[in-house]
Amino acid sequence: MHANEAAATEPYFVRKATSNDVSAVAQIWHIGWADGHLGHVPPELVRYRTQGQFVSRARERLECMWVAESHGQTVGFVVVKGDEVEQIYVDRAARGTGVAAMLLRKAEAEIRSAGHRQAWLAVVAGNQRARSFYSRLGWRDSGPMSYLAETEGGPLAVPAHRYEINLTDPAPD
Ligand SMILES: CC(C)(COP(=O)(O)OP(=O)(O)OC[C@H]1O[C@@H](n2cnc3c(N)ncnc32)[C@H](O)[C@@H]1OP(=O)(O)O)[C@@H](O)C(=O)NCCC(=O)NCCS
Repeated sequence: MHANEAAATEPYFVRKATSNDVSAVAQIWHIGWADGHLGHVPPELVRYRTQGQFVSRARERLECMWVAESHGQTVGFVVVKGDEVEQIYVDRAARGTGVAAMLLRKAEAEIRSAGHRQAWLAVVAGNQRARSFYSRLGWRDSGPMSYLAETEGGPLAVPAHRYEINLTDPAPD
């Protein structure tokens, strides 16, 4: 079967991002950022998180971004930066479907194939949904950290938790 035929029959699949994904990614990111962060981060950070900066930050990350596609729509994305899963966001309608797990496993595979034995990510303490999701996929909470969030005014320290996964272990599912 041709790869495109397989893609067409799957409910969703993961592929490398292209410039055509920028606007959908920025929208998913903007809405998802609010869902995961409002009330859990310093108010100063919220002021920086405008729609326009999600567009420019999405464009800057295309080289290290993978997207989930479903029925021709971009429904989620993941960004890898070295050994860090820097971003993972899924459209509201695609949450709870397995799309996020497919994206996170793709990020782990990319980090592993780049030669890293461990991957990490930062999540704000109040983002319970994300934390449950990471735990279920075998990531462990290694404690509080100060994460330097990228803003137009320079890095901004945000209280977060560091989650890690050992990439030398077989995946739990
Ligand atoms: C984080 C995210 C990618 C996870 O994907 P998902 O499809 O929602 O994940 P799942 O539904 O598979 O798992 C979420 C878990 O949280 C639970 N959950 C659902 N709603 C919840 C809520 N309001 N509060 C706490 N937990 C919740 C689910 O039951 C599930 O837990 P379980 O596996 O123990 O049953 C997705 O929710 C998202 O894009 N959120 C907004 C953006 C974000 O926060 N990104 C991460 C930044 S670090």
